[in-house]
Amino acid sequence: MTAAGAGAGADASTTYRLALIPGDGVGTEVVAGAVEVLEAAGRRFGFGFEWQTLLVGGIAIDTYGVAIRPEDVEACRAADAVLLGAVGGPRWDNPDAAVRPEQALFALRGGLGLFANLRPITVYKELIGASPLKPELLEGVDCLILRELTSGLYFGRPSEQRITPEGRAAIDTLWYTEAEIRRIVTLAFELARGRRRKVTQVDKANVLATSRLWRKVTDEIRPQFPDVELEHRLVDSAAMILAKWPAGFDVLVTENLFGDILSDEAAVIAGSLGLLPSASLGTTTTKHGRHGLYEPIHGSAPDIAGKDLANPLGTILSAAMMLRWSLGQGEAADAVEAAVKQALADGFRTRDLLPGDKAEAATFTTVGTREMARVVADRIAI
Ligand code: IPM
Ligand code: MG
Repeated sequence: MTAAGAGAGADASTTYRLALIPGDGVGTEVVAGAVEVLEAAGRRFGFGFEWQTLLVGGIAIDTYGVAIRPEDVEACRAADAVLLGAVGGPRWDNPDAAVRPEQALFALRGGLGLFANLRPITVYKELIGASPLKPELLEGVDCLILRELTSGLYFGRPSEQRITPEGRAAIDTLWYTEAEIRRIVTLAFELARGRRRKVTQVDKANVLATSRLWRKVTDEIRPQFPDVELEHRLVDSAAMILAKWPAGFDVLVTENLFGDILSDEAAVIAGSLGLLPSASLGTTTTKHGRHGLYEPIHGSAPDIAGKDLANPLGTILSAAMMLRWSLGQGEAADAVEAAVKQALADGFRTRDLLPGDKAEAATFTTVGTREMARVVADRIAI
């Protein structure tokens, strides 16, 4: 396993086979935006795409009666990479239903062995006004949350409600094996080597046995990386420091549920949940790079779905991560990221990125989902 994103094996005439999962709500709109940007990158750098669109999530429940069909998991496995929008919505929100859209995410994460979820938190200087944090706290923020994605409370069994003599009860199981901890923590150290060389391992070791195992295994791995600084931090303290001094984190590695919670908190720091990308990787490689699934960290946002209001940048930046990690197109990834920066520098904003102050907001060009994707694509074409 290497930390290097850019793989080899792409030539000018490469056609990548991508599985597209627009999903529900704004998912369709943001994925369409990312496709436009990827096509623009392909035209500039000389590669193409073969898209396979799959119905997954709420729409699959309506169409097939399940959140994802086994053959669609297989189609994702066979593709060079998977690009996903978002799944879920109020129509399928009954938490007691036997079939729920989120099951598709777990089937993909578990089924494809995508144990490493990378959630980079970058603060664009153009968006400092959109963050609720004071500008001086945003200086130098460049953090990578590395969330374990295929174990812990999300996958531990038993997980169920029971009727007991004392009434209803429920149980979830928090279970980690040392192998599961070792592979994600090793990746954290490897990734830190390409960054600022600091790993913060986050847990609740003063309470949880699993957390104490995380600490032990991390300390066993540490001697292989003497050039990387290691810090153990309790999750409550990490949550506080994220709001007080986010620039203090480089790579933050943690278990599944803690990573879910901390990454939403960290997203607020960047100014908008709509902006943040993610990559989910396993150990499988294709001839182009590492197999993976890419999605924005926001949800299906049913309140604004179908209105051309959603921010497509989280999905576009996820597509950039896909170019880098799965498709061996590091240069194209850089170009997409630079185009996003340029679109922001040129004053284009989706609604979620506008500063609170009305007069200041009026100095920007407010655009919808489609227009934002187009201005980014235009800045790649040059
Ligand atoms: C995420 C989401 C999912 C998760 C939900 C939709 C199940 O919040 O990807 O962060 O908790 O993993
Ligand atoms: Mg989440």
